Amino acid sequence: MILSQSLLSNMIIIKDIKNLKDYINQYKSENQSIGLVPTMGALHDGHGALIKSSKEHNQKTIVSIFINPKQFNNKEDLSTYPINKGNDYDYGIANNVDVIFEPDEIEIYPDNFKSTKNIFYNNILCDVHRPHHFNGVITIVSELLKIVSPNKIYFGLKDYQQFKIIEKLIEKEFSQIEIYGIEIVRDENGLAISSRNKLINQPNKELYKYFIKSINQFVLSLSPDTKIKDANQLVEKFLQENSYEIKKFEYNEFRSLEDLSLEGQIKNSRLFLAFYINTTRLIDNIKI
Ligand code: PAJ
Repeated sequence: MILSQSLLSNMIIIKDIKNLKDYINQYKSENQSIGLVPTMGALHDGHGALIKSSKEHNQKTIVSIFINPKQFNNKEDLSTYPINKGNDYDYGIANNVDVIFEPDEIEIYPDNFKSTKNIFYNNILCDVHRPHHFNGVITIVSELLKIVSPNKIYFGLKDYQQFKIIEKLIEKEFSQIEIYGIEIVRDENGLAISSRNKLINQPNKELYKYFIKSINQFVLSLSPDTKIKDANQLVEKFLQENSYEIKKFEYNEFRSLEDLSLEGQIKNSRLFLAFYINTTRLIDNIKI
């Protein structure tokens, strides 16, 4: 079923795999390069940066919108996840997206569907705190790669561990596809734009803003030659001594860009952060 083809734009909204494949086959027969931007909707300028890159590299850009239940650790997080359908369509049109692929759950996960288990970059960072999350991510991304078979696929570096896991998946199983990691887009206050920011009230946003500013200053104060292991002790001390209202950190660790290990110097690393503001869980990472 093709839902809409607005008179004002050429963007198509497709719900089912069969129709999507018809379009894809047509694009491929015309030798058009296809870029895929997987999202869970509530589109914002973070997603926009991925779309922009895809537009630059490809003739056709497909944005998938699917709130993937398999990657949520609890029902509450899934049920409060922001949805903004009308806006998403407007955002797609304004950014010259060619196709929005917005399947229902049954289309992606028919009965007897077998999930994939993630074996890359396990037992560190988000994987420790959100068990099974990356199984869900790798499952949906594998399915999208099989359905769309794009030339190029785009991920944000805000979710750096996700990017590294998918990079490995592609290297092992979809080596003909090129993956691009796009730098974090921040708002005027330095906050990484996230669909979840909508869940934070104004006083807490001020707190969050102050935290990001001071953690950036802390990172800038370190010599790039500092060993990752030493920097991790310093960041721990810094957070203890500066009594932020943000108490609930899941992790705050420098890790190597290459393989997310604790080896080497911080010039080849990022500071990875996961924390709660009130009940909203956020992740970010600070570039050196
Ligand atoms: P979602 O959170 O919607 O993000 C979709 C893509 O946009 C991801 O690659 C994410 O890293 C990127 N992104 C989000 N905010 C960004 C920002 N401020 N700057 C740069 N990139 C940003 O990540 C997911 O969805 C899902 O896990 C998904 C990959 C779609 C699988 O379900």
